Parts: sequence; structure tokens; C-alpha cells
Amino acid sequence: MTVTDTPLLKSFTRLCEDGFRQGWHEANGGNLSYRMTGEDVAACEPEFSFDRPWVEMGVQANNLKSSFFLVTGAGKFLHNAPLCPADCLGILQINDAGNAWRIVWGLENGGKPTSEFPTHFMNHSVRLAATDGANRVIYHAHCPNIITLSTLVEPDARTWTRILWKSMTECVLVFPQGVGVVPWMVPGGSDIAQATAKLMESHDAVVWTQHGMFVSGDTFDAAFGMMHVIEKSAGLYLAARAANGGNEPAFPISDDQLLQVCRAFDVRPREGFLAR
Ligand code: 13P
Ligand code: ZN
Repeated sequence: MTVTDTPLLKSFTRLCEDGFRQGWHEANGGNLSYRMTGEDVAACEPEFSFDRPWVEMGVQANNLKSSFFLVTGAGKFLHNAPLCPADCLGILQINDAGNAWRIVWGLENGGKPTSEFPTHFMNHSVRLAATDGANRVIYHAHCPNIITLSTLVEPDARTWTRILWKSMTECVLVFPQGVGVVPWMVPGGSDIAQATAKLMESHDAVVWTQHGMFVSGDTFDAAFGMMHVIEKSAGLYLAARAANGGNEPAFPISDDQLLQVCRAFDVRPREGFLAR
């Protein structure tokens, strides 16, 4: 089986296409990475070549030494990933020191991994530790309602989380830890990677103010679903606020109602975010 025929490639490119259809991936906006299993590597290895150079990342992780990632390429349109995967996507091997990558498959025609790979890499490291290895997918999208909301609301995690939980009943069950919020920063480097990874230690989702969002998940469906739920909730809030003349929605879900939902589904919301 060739790399492009593997179920992994199909799941990966399906998410790219689904995100594009949602309007989250204008031009090259957004990126995706997946930490491969031993079986994934074994299935793809016959097509690997090890002649491309190591490139230092400016970040390091002990728990990702010698691992392999499937990633989108810098400047590549996610919409094109299903059409020409070997050009748009690449498989990276991490070196023994955990601080450099080399391309072992794909990114033909001189491509490079996403400019946000330092953030993906650090997020993988902290989510691997936080979930005992369960999380494998890190996804970044330019979801418009999240970006709009960040032009209206201060970059404070509690404020954001309460808005999102109170706009749709089951949000508190989907992201009980709430969202982390990174204030505006220059994208594409190790500073924003460190700031995001710090928040990813205790969140599945982190907003990049006026830019978009990062989410993590065990599977492509889980990561996509997380992005979808949070983005939809932001849109509901914005619509309600616009319909109310720009004022706060008149009847948001109350703290007590959210606690009732949590009790019914045995979920513990983030401490201090709801009044008891
Ligand atoms: P890349 O094309 O390098 O993945 O960048 C897209 C993006 O969303 C940067 O934040
Ligand atoms: Zn981006």
C-alpha cells in the first residue's frame, strides 16, 4: 500500500476538506498535524527517504524524541490536500535530541512543514503528557466567529469560556476545562508556541486572539468536532448580540443551569468559572 492509499491519509485529508467547507481555511490559512503510531510508521516506511537535511525548530521536547508526524505544508491550501497529498503534506521524523525535524516523505517540490510547526510540536508534547498518549491530533483553523469575537471581548479565559458555555447547552460538556486565550502575538515562532503550549497543559482548545484557534484530540473527528462546537457557539453569541442591538444576550444559560447539566452528565467544569 502506498502512503497516499493509507486510511490515515484519507482521514487526514478529509478533515482538511471538511474545514475548508466550513470556511475556516482561506488560502493557506490553518494547518494540521498528527503524531503517528508505530503501525502508521510501519505502513508508510517503505516510501520513506532519509536524505533530506535536519532543520532545528527552536523548541525541544524529550517525550517526542524520534517520533514521526504527518503535517500540512507551509503555504499549502488545505483544500488541495486531498488532490495532491504528496505536494501539500509531509511526514517528519524528529531527531534523537527532540529539537529538529527532517522530511522523510512528501512535501515534494521543495515544500516545508507548516510555519506553525513549533506550536504543533509543543502542543503535542504537553497533550501527550496530559492525556497519557491519547491525544494525537493538533488542528489550527481560522474560524471566523472566534476571530470576530476576539475583536469584542477582552482576552481573558474565564470571560471567553463563560460566553461560549452560556450560548449552547452542551458546550460545557464538550470543553469542561474551557478555552485558553493567547493575547495577540506574532504567529509562526517559538514564543507563541511556548505561550500556547502552557495553556494546552490544561485545555483542549486555545484561542489565538484575532487569528483563530488551536484544538487537540485523540482522533481527527474529536479535534474537528471540538473546533466545530466552539466556533458554532461563538457564532450563536454574536448573532444573539447583534439581534439584541449589540447588547449582551437577554437570556443566556445561567450558572445554575450549567451546573445542573454538569451534574446530570457527571462532568466537572473548570474550578472558579461558574458561581455555586
Ligand atoms: P502555514 O501555511 O505556514 O501553515 O500558515 C498558515 C497559518 O494559518 C499561519 O498561522
Ligand atoms: Zn493561522
